[in-house]
Amino acid sequence: MKSVLNFGILGCGMIADVHAKAILSLDNANLYGVADNNLAYAEKFAEKYGVKAYSNYEQMLADGDVDAVCICTPSGFHAQNAICALNAGKNVVLEKPMAITYADTQKLIDICKKTDKKLTVISQLRFSKDVNKLKKLVEEKAFGSLAFCNLYMKYWRSAEYYSSSEWKGTLAFDGGGALMNQGIHGVDLLLYIAGNANVLGAKKQTVYHNIEVEDSVAALLQFDNGAIGTVEAATCTYPGFERKIEILGSNGCAVLCEDKLEKLIVGGQSLLEGDSGTVAATASNPAAVEYENHAMQIDNFIKAIQGDEKLLIDGFEGQRAVKLIEEIYSF
Ligand SMILES: NC(=O)c1ccc[n+]([C@@H]2O[C@H](COP(=O)([O-])OP(=O)(O)OC[C@H]3O[C@@H](n4cnc5c(N)ncnc54)[C@H](O)[C@@H]3O)[C@@H](O)[C@H]2O)c1
Repeated sequence: MKSVLNFGILGCGMIADVHAKAILSLDNANLYGVADNNLAYAEKFAEKYGVKAYSNYEQMLADGDVDAVCICTPSGFHAQNAICALNAGKNVVLEKPMAITYADTQKLIDICKKTDKKLTVISQLRFSKDVNKLKKLVEEKAFGSLAFCNLYMKYWRSAEYYSSSEWKGTLAFDGGGALMNQGIHGVDLLLYIAGNANVLGAKKQTVYHNIEVEDSVAALLQFDNGAIGTVEAATCTYPGFERKIEILGSNGCAVLCEDKLEKLIVGGQSLLEGDSGTVAATASNPAAVEYENHAMQIDNFIKAIQGDEKLLIDGFEGQRAVKLIEEIYSF
């Protein structure tokens, strides 16, 4: 197995920059080339990073020097783009959501098995220290009998955020709104920390934006751990509030604000050591995504391909949030 893997990036928009920076920060990864269905975008991006621009995706997939592809296209293309890459013998880093239907996530899992290629679904917040601290405490039952596991994700996206994009806010290419695009990060973390849940009831609506999908949604969940939980997600709540996950039980509680713990009480004692750091600004600014956590995930993906580590976020993990969101939408 090669010690440095060559990466191609498909889709040269906003998040592609984060992938490029993450790849460049790693010793075991090399940014090799990029493609976009708009060749001018690919050429501009390629020039910025000093790599080659392929005239189309097929050309990138046919290049035997490319070991892995980061798929950074609009969500509605994720499944078909990933299927082509896996069938062409490439390993895949797939942006969230894994796909916009549960059926497509299952197809991807099946093709990974058939082709024996690795696929990781980006969930960069799972690499945050506080997220893992909280997950461990929940697993150790530190909070006693759990009563609530809640997710509040009342974000703000302007009308221009949707009107300036060809795909955001569309059913076919975004697959949903406040929950499938923004909220999926929170749903993924909630399930990662608190375990699986079923949906007891839900309501979605579009109160402000002129889009096909929801800009506000609320759901009631029943967790396998015994707790009930609420999920609230929005992109129409000005000025945008930090994502919060609350875990509340008979022996304590925790509040995760974005990916930093702001409250952590077990048995009457606060376990927080000083300031847990500043929180990211994605509540109102979609471009405020740091590359470091993407780099940690891509590093784990490379080491899994090389046989040195277990792949932490595979198709089954990527599928969990899509499954729950589809269930919420079905009410
Ligand atoms: N992990 C995160 O925090 C995070 C943050 C933002 C976006 N995302 C995800 O990344 C994906 C892209 O989002 P973005 O904000 O970068 O979008 P964007 O609109 O900025 O960029 C999309 C790019 O893909 C290209 N494209 C469109 N259709 C294509 C196709 N069929 N084949 C090849 N290229 C195509 C477009 O020309 C554009 O350059 C989305 O799925 C989104 O959910 C993840």
